[in-house]
Amino acid sequence: MKAFVKTTYGGPEVLTLEEVEKPSIKDDQILVKVMANSANPADWHILRGEPFFARFVFGLLKPKNKLFGADFAGIVAETGNQVRDFKVGDKVFGEKLSGGAFAEYTAVPADICAIMPEGTEFQEMACVPIAGLTALQALITHGQLKEGESVLINGSSGGVGHLAVQIAKVYGAKVTAVCSFKNKDFVKSLGADEVISYDNENIHKHHGKFNLIVDTHGNLSHNDFKRMGQRAVSVGFTTMGHMMSVLFKKAFSKFPLTQFTAEIKKHDLEILASLIRDRKIKVQIDKTFPYTKIPEAISYIEAMHTRGKVAMVW
Ligand SMILES: NC(=O)c1ccc[n+]([C@@H]2O[C@H](COP(=O)([O-])OP(=O)(O)OC[C@H]3O[C@@H](n4cnc5c(N)ncnc54)[C@H](OP(=O)(O)O)[C@@H]3O)[C@@H](O)[C@H]2O)c1
Repeated sequence: MKAFVKTTYGGPEVLTLEEVEKPSIKDDQILVKVMANSANPADWHILRGEPFFARFVFGLLKPKNKLFGADFAGIVAETGNQVRDFKVGDKVFGEKLSGGAFAEYTAVPADICAIMPEGTEFQEMACVPIAGLTALQALITHGQLKEGESVLINGSSGGVGHLAVQIAKVYGAKVTAVCSFKNKDFVKSLGADEVISYDNENIHKHHGKFNLIVDTHGNLSHNDFKRMGQRAVSVGFTTMGHMMSVLFKKAFSKFPLTQFTAEIKKHDLEILASLIRDRKIKVQIDKTFPYTKIPEAISYIEAMHTRGKVAMVW
């Protein structure tokens, strides 16, 4: 089968499309014929081995896993002996952060997948796992957002942010969203009550007060969180210096700030699937690439100005 392969750390140019052996499955796994993927910042962090400490997980001198890619949607081609939730032919979506989703077939544990809702497209559902789980868990699991509360979402036009705006509205929050001026109308169309364009107004001097701050871009300082929020959740970071500064100040402060890595939970994938099925949230696709152009798709998202998501189709 065809798969994208990396044998060294580097930019998208180190990725090569090669013929590799089709994976075999364990008893608790399913084999998925991949129909679509989506690109996430995690892909280029893993590809580049950045930040450096990530190499303790992904391989110190070179990548442990030469296969690449996390988010996928596709069709179940085989099921392991212990798998009860899926059968051959089911349309599923899920996430494999350890790599191997940017391939014709991927073997994954059945509990990191969910069934695609009727009437949805592969490329749409491939955009959901990492971004959707992060948005949902930031707002609800960690942010404990309640109906009627106010939330500020920074980075609201990107993969995580555009889903976070919609999910916060579904849960009954008043949403103030931060994005660039060019994306103001886009974010308003997602349901945001107020939109602040960071190129017209300095968010680091904004004096609004919110029950919850969710930073999906990762440039808010610890002072920003404390000044504007009662509690905060941060999922992104822009520079190592910024991340260290937030971590350092958090260690000496009682302000409730959570930083987390999204967990692949089947139940959360099912919540996202039901929100999409019921048309309460919608994935917005900025650009779709053919699978042969996956390195270009990764280059495109590295600019960190994606409007919604980037999908790749097989
Ligand atoms: N913790 C986790 O588990 C987890 C999971 C997923 C993602 N992440 C992290 O979360 C971040 C966002 O991921 P993503 O997939 O949403 O990325 P993305 O799709 O590339 O979106 C990034 C967004 O940041 C916005 N942005 C750029 N400069 C900004 C600024 N100065 N102020 C506010 N917003 C700005 C961009 O909007 P404009 O074009 O309008 O500027 C863009 O929409 C990344 O750092 C990623 O690594 C963490």
